[in-house]
Amino acid sequence: MSVPPIRIALVGCGRIAGNHVSAIKKLPEFSLVACCDSVADRARAIGEAEGIPWFTSEERMLAEVPCDAVTIATPSGLHPKHGIIAAKAGRHVICEKPMAITLSSADDLVTACDDAGVHLFVVKQNRLNPSIQLLKRAVDKGRFGRIYMANATVRWSRPQEYYDQAPWRGTWEFDGGAFMNQASHYVDLIQWLVGPVESVMARTATLARKIEAEDSGIAILKFRSGALGTIEVTMLTYPRNLEGSITILGEKGSVKIGGTAVNKVEHWAFADYDDDDKAIETASTSPPNVYGFGHEAYYKNVAQVIQGVSRPDTDGRAGRKSLELILGIYESAKTGREVPIPLKVQQ
Ligand SMILES: NC(=O)c1ccc[n+]([C@@H]2O[C@H](COP(=O)([O-])OP(=O)(O)OC[C@H]3O[C@@H](n4cnc5c(N)ncnc54)[C@H](O)[C@@H]3O)[C@@H](O)[C@H]2O)c1
Repeated sequence: MSVPPIRIALVGCGRIAGNHVSAIKKLPEFSLVACCDSVADRARAIGEAEGIPWFTSEERMLAEVPCDAVTIATPSGLHPKHGIIAAKAGRHVICEKPMAITLSSADDLVTACDDAGVHLFVVKQNRLNPSIQLLKRAVDKGRFGRIYMANATVRWSRPQEYYDQAPWRGTWEFDGGAFMNQASHYVDLIQWLVGPVESVMARTATLARKIEAEDSGIAILKFRSGALGTIEVTMLTYPRNLEGSITILGEKGSVKIGGTAVNKVEHWAFADYDDDDKAIETASTSPPNVYGFGHEAYYKNVAQVIQGVSRPDTDGRAGRKSLELILGIYESAKTGREVPIPLKVQQ
């Protein structure tokens, strides 16, 4: 007996929506059944292209079209509101990163999903890059021995026109800056691979773009294991994206996953052989942009979880961890002090 596809409704038909639509269409486990955007032309464009009903209100869409899950691809500060509407309507929530830009609203979203008995998935597709999966396995197998140092570097380029495309970009109310938006995957990766983080010190700056939040910043991490880490982020690289990398240096191993979006194994050296070493040649990919190929891989996990055969790759609690670190970075940049994680004052 064939299983009926999982019906997805999409909220937010902007730039990243295309990655969701193409991932959903590629996977037979899903069907896209409706979309909505507060800007009618955007909803209409996807609705007409996909032959599905389109709306300008999430509530109306959910009232009129039966669905199993709702994908949230609206401005970051609105994710909790849209996710809570979906959860209260009994739908699973697939939420773009970051899940929220305050911890209290992230907690409200987690609670709403728990209360409704629905899953909350936070899209962290970079974790699923083949090179990152190999690195995670190496960490989990203890191949580094003691980890001494970890670094994430995001040297990307976002011109003023990118920020001017939408009024929410770079604002404190709906977005945040380079750490909260563009580099949030890298903050997530470093804490997922080497964390938990014990404390953070940071400096941020708005050096060139006309936005409220930062276009550049540096964070120094102390991990609970004793290892040290740095995160260097800028959106001002001339003339284009140069690097999106993670490096881990340990007692018995050194790895750098680089390229422009952690898509290439640039260095892989371990004292002891493991069969995974054979996979490094095939683990590098050439994605069309820094968003990578991962949305499709992410949705495969969503399907398996909803079908009851797997656990979520990143649920709301996992998504909250990197949000807390980003907010710690912001607090340190603001106060000039070292900030312990978990944060004392929940923001
Ligand atoms: N996973 C990734 O790698 C990745 C990449 C890019 C963006 N994102 C995330 O996706 C989200 C959207 O980013 P984007 O670049 O697509 O932004 P965007 O501005 O291009 O798209 C957001 C859309 O939401 C719509 N919207 C705003 N308020 C709405 C409402 N109340 N109801 C319905 N629709 C509403 C806007 O009209 C717009 O079309 C952000 O949170 C961003 O951080 C994730």
